[in-house]
Formats: sequence, C-alpha cells, structure tokens
Amino acid sequence: MWKPFIFLCSVVLRVLGASIDHYQPEQVHLSYTGQPASITVTWTTFSWTPSMVEFSPLPGPPLFNLTAYGETTLFVDGGPMKRKMYIHRVTLKNLIPSQRYVYHCGSSLGWSPQFYFRALRNDPSWGPHLAVFGDMGNENAKSLSRLQKETQMDMYDAILHVGDFAYDMDKDNAQVGDEFMRQIESVAAYVPYMTCPGNHEEAYNFSNYRMRFTMPGDTEGLWYSWDLGPAHIISFSTEVYFYLKYGEELVAKQFNWLQRDLQATSKARRSERPWIITMAHRPMYCTNFNSDDCAQVNSTTRTGLPGGQYALEDLFYKYGVDLEIWAHEHSFERLWPVYNRRVYNGSIDAPYTNPRAPVHITTGSAGCNERLDPFFPLHREWSAVRIEDYGYTRIHVANKTHIHIQQVSDDQDGEIVDDIWLIKDKS
Ligand SMILES: *[C@@H]1O[C@H](CO)[C@@H](O)[C@H](O)[C@H]1NC(C)=O
Ligand SMILES: *[C@@H]1O[C@H](CO)[C@@H](O)[C@H](O)[C@H]1NC(C)=O
Ligand SMILES: *[C@@H]1O[C@H](CO)[C@@H](O)[C@H](O)[C@H]1NC(C)=O
Ligand SMILES: *[C@@H]1O[C@H](CO)[C@@H](O)[C@H](O)[C@H]1NC(C)=O
Ligand SMILES: *[C@@H]1O[C@H](CO)[C@@H](O)[C@H](O)[C@H]1NC(C)=O
Repeated sequence: MWKPFIFLCSVVLRVLGASIDHYQPEQVHLSYTGQPASITVTWTTFSWTPSMVEFSPLPGPPLFNLTAYGETTLFVDGGPMKRKMYIHRVTLKNLIPSQRYVYHCGSSLGWSPQFYFRALRNDPSWGPHLAVFGDMGNENAKSLSRLQKETQMDMYDAILHVGDFAYDMDKDNAQVGDEFMRQIESVAAYVPYMTCPGNHEEAYNFSNYRMRFTMPGDTEGLWYSWDLGPAHIISFSTEVYFYLKYGEELVAKQFNWLQRDLQATSKARRSERPWIITMAHRPMYCTNFNSDDCAQVNSTTRTGLPGGQYALEDLFYKYGVDLEIWAHEHSFERLWPVYNRRVYNGSIDAPYTNPRAPVHITTGSAGCNERLDPFFPLHREWSAVRIEDYGYTRIHVANKTHIHIQQVSDDQDGEIVDDIWLIKDKS
C-alpha cells in the first residue's frame, strides 16, 4: 500500500518542482568572447547558486588555484509550465595562448566534473581547424558521436553550429533544450561552440537561443564577429528577415552593423587577416526539391526584402567576402564562385584559385528528426557538388592563402566525400 503512495507523492513533488535542490552544474559549454586570451564557460542549474570557475594550467595535477567569478541569470522558458533555470556565465581572462587548462565550474554548493580546453591563439599566423554544421537535433543526431570522439582526439579548435538546435530547444517546456545541451557537452565543454540562430529557435522571440548560449558582442548572439587565425568570422541572423513580427527594425540594425563590420576589415586589417567567412542559417542559393527561400530565383537572403532593401549578396560581393557558410537544407551543397546567379571561377582549370566571387557551402545534414532533404533533378550552372548524406564539414584555415574544406559523410563511416582548397594568392 505504502510504496505506490510514496511513489505518487514523489511524482507530484517532481511535477510541482518542489523540494528538489539542483545545485549540480550541467550543460557545460565554452564559447570564445572575441577578446584575446579569454574564454567563457556557460552552464545550467535549476536552483540558484553563485557562478565560479576554478582552473589551472596543464600538465601536472589539477590545482584549481585560479578562480574566476561571473553572473547567474534566471531564465524562465515561455512554455505553459514557465520552467525556471539558472544560466551561469563566467569569463576566464589573461589566458596564455595555446596553453591547455583544466577547469571545473559551479560553486561551494557543487562542482562539475573536470574538463579541459586549449586557450585560443590571437595571432593571424596559425591554422585553426573547425568542425562546421547546422541542423543537429536531440533525436537522430547522426554526426554527434563522431564529433565527440574527434573533439576528444583534439582535432578541432572550435565548432561552428550554423543554426537549428535540438528540434526544438523550447519543446516540452524546454526539456528538449536541456537534453540537447547535455548531449553536446562532450564536444562543447572542450572547445568553443559558436552559434547563429536558425528558424527552429524562433519560439518566444528566440529566447532559448539567446539565453542558453554566450556569444561575443551585445546582441545575445544574433549578430557578432570574431577573429580566428587568418580569418575574420561574421555570424548573423537570417531569421530577422523572416520573423518581422519580432521587430522590423532588426533587419536594418543588423544590416548596418554588417556594413560597418565589413568596412572595418578593409585594407590594413585585411592584410593581417585576409579571409572573411560568414555564417548564417538560410542559404542564398540551393537546389533542393522544396519551396524554401533559397530555391527561389530571388531569395530574400540574397536580394533582400521586397523592393531590394537590405540585400546581402551585393554587400558581401562588394566587400570581397571569401566564404559563406549556410545550413537549413539537410544536405551538403558546394557552389562554384557565384554572384548574381553567374559563375565567377578563378579559371576553368582552377575555379577556387583566386575566385572572382564568394564561395558558398551549405552544410545542414548533421542529423535531426526531419531527416534529409532531397535535391531537385535539374542541374544549375552554379551548383558544383550535391551530397545527400548525413555529415559535417571540416574547415582548416591553413594560412593567409589556403583554406581546406572537406565534407565528412557519417553514412559512409567517416569517408571524405568532398575535398577542395580555396586559394587566394594575389589580391
Ligand atoms: C598555483 O599553484 C602553483 C603550484 O603550487 C604555483 O606555482 C602557482 O603560482 C599558483 N598560482 C596561483 C595563481 O596561486
Ligand atoms: C525580440 O528580441 C529582440 C532582441 O533580440 C528585441 O530587440 C525585440 O524588441 C524583441 N521583440 C519583441 C516583439 O519582443
Ligand atoms: C529577380 O529580380 C530581378 C532584378 O530585380 C528581376 O529582373 C527578375 O524579374 C526577378 N525574377 C523573379 C523570378 O522574380
Ligand atoms: C567553373 O569551373 C568548373 C570546373 O572547372 C567547370 O565545370 C564550370 O563549367 C566552370 N563554369 C564556368 C561558368 O566557367
Ligand atoms: C599555406 O598552406 C598551403 C597548404 O598547406 C601550403 O602549400 C603553403 O606553402 C602555405 N603557405 C605558406 C606561406 O606557408
């Protein structure tokens, strides 16, 4: 008689969320602040605690004798249960570039397991390795185990997740978001996990996206830029063009910021860090078999709002953006250098050597519950390679003249199914 009763009580208490203390840090992840020699640790608890990180250099025993303090923010999800969680953010500063550190996060109420990271270098003369993908969910996260293993093998300096997380983070009163953030911890607690918003983050004005991640700048991760080795990386939101209900002024605000950021990269800075790479969720071009924006002749992300305002293709072409990374379509597509639907190969023999227009890569097949997106059987002149496999992209910004882009197929057991060098050896 008693057992079912006690069980029932504990269920009721659980549902009410009463009397269970949750001090133990979870969902630990790193991000780069954009400020040299620093890194931010973000994590979640369900009871209030202070926010601290203790860390120390490796090798040697973990001494944890360096301490950094940060902020605890209450996040109330927009769902019917109005679930509460505490987001903790601590920035570690004055790190020694390339130095490995061990850390744990939490407070005197409880510490996380120990994790480690390598402080990013700030100078342009190294060759960072990135894993890049979009559209990875809680369910059917095909590429995740390979990414976890390769991260632990020290293959990457940072991850770029090009929008669409968890499917969706707000689902089931944001419990899907919690579980997704736990799933990626074995990647994201070791290397900076850099993001941009996708359409699946839309709920409650992108609140799960804005609150769970910590990106550079003051836009809660909607748009920002940072330097990594010889590259300047710009992350922005294509979603401001599609959810005007959250503020039409955001389109102009972002566009003006993009313009200013690109202006600032010209000349002197460009000789230091010659590569400009953009990342955002919805592509300008695609050949998938659907009616998405990118399948339109004049896609919004390419030609702007009706009337041609805030058109991004002209802007990126004008400032000589080198590589544009997209997702949204659950497949891999590489384009020849393209502007205004015309191909601008470097030459016929070497299309990616000194290309005369930006190169686009769409990599949205990391794996989610919506499966893959097939391609339209028609050939387009600007489309070079199309792969309908689960997988992700490796980008090695080798130096000031060479970028290596490889596509990994998870379906084909980690095979490299596409491989190009983007070369820029004259300006
Ligand atoms: C941490 O401990 C090591 C070994 O005792 C010591 O060399 C180092 O100075 C300490 N660092 C700080 C900031 O206390
Ligand atoms: C949505 O969030 C943005 C900040 O990301 C804010 O500027 C805007 O006013 C919000 N819109 C609404 C309708 O709450
Ligand atoms: C696309 O835009 C161009 C330039 O404004 C216009 O000439 C063309 O008719 C448009 N095409 C379609 C299919 O809307
Ligand atoms: C661009 O280069 C590729 C590879 O050499 C070639 O197949 C394609 O026809 C070229 N396109 C144009 C418009 O020159
Ligand atoms: C840049 O990287 C490429 C590919 O690894 C290499 O061939 C080239 O020599 C490098 N350039 C410099 C200046 O190191």
